[in-house]
Amino acid sequence: MFDIQITQVEIRRMRPEDEQNLPFGSIFTDHMFIVDYEENLGWHNPRIVPYQDISISPAAMVFHYGQAVFEGLKAYRTHSGKVLLFRPNKNIERINLSCERLCMPQIPATLFFDGMKTLVDLDKDWLPKSEGTALYIRPFMIATEPHLGVRPSKTYQFMMILSPVGTYYQEGLEPIKIWVEKNYARTVKGGIGNVKVAGNYAASLKSQSEAQKIGYAQVLWLDGIEKKYIEEVGSMNIFFKIQGKLITPILNGSILNGVTRDSVITLCKQRNVAVEERQISIEEIKAAYDQGILEECFGTGTAAVISPVGELRLDDESLLINQGEIGDLTSSLYDTLIGIQTGQIVGPAGWSVEI
Ligand code: COI
Repeated sequence: MFDIQITQVEIRRMRPEDEQNLPFGSIFTDHMFIVDYEENLGWHNPRIVPYQDISISPAAMVFHYGQAVFEGLKAYRTHSGKVLLFRPNKNIERINLSCERLCMPQIPATLFFDGMKTLVDLDKDWLPKSEGTALYIRPFMIATEPHLGVRPSKTYQFMMILSPVGTYYQEGLEPIKIWVEKNYARTVKGGIGNVKVAGNYAASLKSQSEAQKIGYAQVLWLDGIEKKYIEEVGSMNIFFKIQGKLITPILNGSILNGVTRDSVITLCKQRNVAVEERQISIEEIKAAYDQGILEECFGTGTAAVISPVGELRLDDESLLINQGEIGDLTSSLYDTLIGIQTGQIVGPAGWSVEI
């Protein structure tokens, strides 16, 4: 058992009043969780402190060689006032895979859960109440050893911060426009695309900024070698509905194993909606569009939940999907998922964990 020391703020800060317009990820709660790691001591000194800047050496290895991993999950408030986490065991499994890939130490599940539950419980007043809002939990780990030789750091800090959030995209549940990226590559098999490491997101920024300048919310990445097979969108996995069947790229070693992706597949199987996880080429999507059988497209992610895609821009052509409207399956999956997350619908065993 880890004994978490708690230092509370003297005066709690004002919480945002306007829950309808919460930006994504720029407001933080009163407290944060921190725990230190040293090679000889293991994980020690877990503590909750007032949310604050941290002091770290400019030679800390995270700044030079990028050992940084993170997770994202949400806490939801039910109508009866309970606080529910959605499938948090998936996040502990995944952060440890990410750590393994970057030669960082594993986090014991008890430390992850005890830290998270204690922190969320302490700051639960920050959990917004309005529909479409949640408390976003951002666990992350960084290499802290001051050292400039290239090797794994010998010291780390694992932290957790909380942010009350609304929808990830400013479009809300309005379908977003996505640019199919043909020039830049996000990753290749054997790289780090299948784990949640900071570097993946750094690599995506250039393409995303170029797409945003011309009105596209995100980019759709193709495989890094042939630029032919669909992989994922920067902050979401992607699904297409073609002739009633849902298809999504198979986890091929360079795609993130999204918790929402897995949840959508499970829900569809329960409803007898056919789902295929397989290699999908961009030509296949274009051909389906030309034949008028590309019915819906949506992205999935913790931050984005289920986000309809209304337009795919492929070279010079814009593929307008479902007349740019949210599709029936997308909309019903969204309602079911949010229903489970907020405790209005009973989901599969173990999906909701009460704080
Ligand atoms: C999430 O969906 O939680 C993510 O981590 C995506 C993004 C905000 C980086």
